[in-house]
Amino acid sequence: MQIVILRDSDEVAEYGANLIINQLKRKPDSVLGLATGSTPVSLYQRLIVANQAGTVSFKAVTSFNLDEYLGLAASHPQSYRYFMNSQLFDAIDIDKANTHVPPGDAEDPIAACEAYEAQIQAAGGIDIQLLGIGRNGHIGFNEPSSGLMSRTRVKTLTKATIEDNARFFGEGEYQPHLSITMGIGTILDARKVLLLATGESKAEAIRAAVEGALSASCPASALQLHRDAVLVIDEAAASKLA
Ligand code: F6R
Repeated sequence: MQIVILRDSDEVAEYGANLIINQLKRKPDSVLGLATGSTPVSLYQRLIVANQAGTVSFKAVTSFNLDEYLGLAASHPQSYRYFMNSQLFDAIDIDKANTHVPPGDAEDPIAACEAYEAQIQAAGGIDIQLLGIGRNGHIGFNEPSSGLMSRTRVKTLTKATIEDNARFFGEGEYQPHLSITMGIGTILDARKVLLLATGESKAEAIRAAVEGALSASCPASALQLHRDAVLVIDEAAASKLA
């Protein structure tokens, strides 16, 4: 694990965006693993600026998102497909046919999970996987107790994650308690992993991931097994490291 500690969330976004831009310059047809949530938004804004300035192209890129709520169709404003379209894909030159988000409205979710794994394989595997981290150490929707070798599957969200994500849903709006998520094993197969974390609320999860035991109680600790995992974090997220 390589740990890069920067001053604030702007520097984290800038550093992360540059890693992805350099990856695309080296390999324009890279396969990107992408994340949703608040953390990557400013990184995506930088990718949009770079694309619109002609510094980088996504025309040959294929992407796979980590996860999706089970029970939300792509058109639902809280779906992760909707998030990706509005936060990134609509504003860059990527071919949407090459972007993949697990299907939240799949009739057969178990078959959809297997198909998602097969699509990643068929694309040649993920070159760089972007991750955020939950306060409880989750990556994707791999909540504590997820198998360290797990593959894409249906996963129940914990109370803590449901509460953390309630901010995105309106009062009384249906909030799913199930998801489809890449497994920890799927994430570990990526050739490079880039985890971003900012703010004090992530400090304990970062401490457990970096200095704690390798354990399913902190899914992000599995990154200790990866040979090219970079954690780019701000000083607040680093504040509980020894
Ligand atoms: C999102 C995802 C989640 C988030 C995590 C942090 O696709 O898989 O693991 O990365 O919940 O979310 P934020 O960035 O909103 O704090």
